[in-house]
Amino acid sequence: MSDVNPILSGSAQSIAAYQDAIEQSTQAVVEWLKQPEMYQGKTVEQLRERINLNFTSQGLGNQAAIERAVEYFLKDSLLVHHAQCVAHLHCPSLVISQAAEVLINATNQSMDSWDQSPSATIIEIKLIEWLREQVGYAAGDAGVFTSGGTQSNLMGLMLARDAFFARQGHSIQQDGLTSDLSKIKVFCSESAHFSVQKNMALMGLGYRSVTQVKTDAFSRMDLADLKDKLAQAKANGEQVMAIVATAGTTDAGAIDPLADIAALAAEHQIWMHVDAAWGGALLLSEKYRDFLNGLELADSVTLDFHKQFFQTISCGAFLLKDARHYELMRYQAAYLNSDFDEEAGVPNLVSKSLQTTRRFDALKLWMGLEALGKKQYAVIIDNGVTLAQDVAEFVKTQPHLELVMEPQLASVLFRFRPQSDDMAFVALLNQRIGDVLLASGSANVGVTEADGVTCLKLTLLNPTVCLEDVKVLLASVKATAEQLLKA
Ligand SMILES: Cc1ncc(COP(=O)(O)O)c(C=O)c1O
Repeated sequence: MSDVNPILSGSAQSIAAYQDAIEQSTQAVVEWLKQPEMYQGKTVEQLRERINLNFTSQGLGNQAAIERAVEYFLKDSLLVHHAQCVAHLHCPSLVISQAAEVLINATNQSMDSWDQSPSATIIEIKLIEWLREQVGYAAGDAGVFTSGGTQSNLMGLMLARDAFFARQGHSIQQDGLTSDLSKIKVFCSESAHFSVQKNMALMGLGYRSVTQVKTDAFSRMDLADLKDKLAQAKANGEQVMAIVATAGTTDAGAIDPLADIAALAAEHQIWMHVDAAWGGALLLSEKYRDFLNGLELADSVTLDFHKQFFQTISCGAFLLKDARHYELMRYQAAYLNSDFDEEAGVPNLVSKSLQTTRRFDALKLWMGLEALGKKQYAVIIDNGVTLAQDVAEFVKTQPHLELVMEPQLASVLFRFRPQSDDMAFVALLNQRIGDVLLASGSANVGVTEADGVTCLKLTLLNPTVCLEDVKVLLASVKATAEQLLKA
């Protein structure tokens, strides 16, 4: 079947095959976009049964492979742009981001070296310079695009660790970890993202190296507890290599008091990393930019564009305040970033990244900024934050619903409250509401915990969603709860 050359190239035959394959795929996407159901409601077992690889000796050919992907992947995919799809920090994407993907994929540039991505390298560097300016960092290009928040947080923690040991005359890069690490700590709030724990484990320091600072009623890091825990750490002979502040916690969207934390970090000579994976979107906000005051004081920052910047997955960035810290991860590979290149000033971005081969995801943000402009980008970001406030007000008027916390970014935490004070029962009921809604294919509502009790979460990133849509969803929550209570 597939005896024709399958490689994308400039030959007439390849170009025709490319156009056919893209046209067929685009048509399928257009049909999928119009699907009314958020999800066709298949269970884990049903999908496992249905989906099987068909790797034949002759190959099926492009057309049949695409048809099978439409049948087994596309049709049963979640419609992330659907008004009732509000569970996670998982955004619908910009049309321009889709166009950027076509260019990124077809050109297949790799960001590790200049000779694999010349124009792309310059675009990424210029975008990093621009992002630094938005954060309030000094002019420079220390930073890199990443696969997302987890990797950016890893870079921040790794450089914090290596800078900490370098100050003591020890090079982790050369000599590895020292034998007793039990006194090395990282501080973050109880609501910080779990990638702090995972990254510390990955870095050889274990979950136990993470000290969780208490949070206030709004899930923000409690400064008094931070001070107490810093004093306690000192008394215990512990050494704090980094404080990770969060600008936009995953559930509550809480922004830690950045400037106050920065002052404490400076006083104790501790690296401060800000995980602004979500809240970083406010860099483009017209109404809420001041929520990020103090971000410029951080030693390093995580930004994530596949959240409220509406870029396709994956697209994130890591920014480093002082470029000299990049020395801590310096590695020269003769075939990529040789001395010769460095002396000649050839920018090989492998020096700034944990990855070697790397996608040109920066193009998506670049094209997004150019296509939308400041005004429209601000509108679609601010919309979610304002909508969350409106939804919270509405929730307060509903006797069967309990608002768990006032919203801070674009999320609303709430519970269905039956007439019962048995919190285990309330927790189970809310869990079941989320499960039933997803299984029915009608809605995807987040299920999480606040103060140890299960609650529901609406993550209202989608700028096409309005209060009326959310009221429809809340009515489904109520109807589902009533059915469950009857059963
Ligand atoms: C606050 C925060 N930081 C980091 C991450 C991890 O980001 P990613 O999924 O892009 O690795 C998330 C994911 O939701 C997050 O909410």
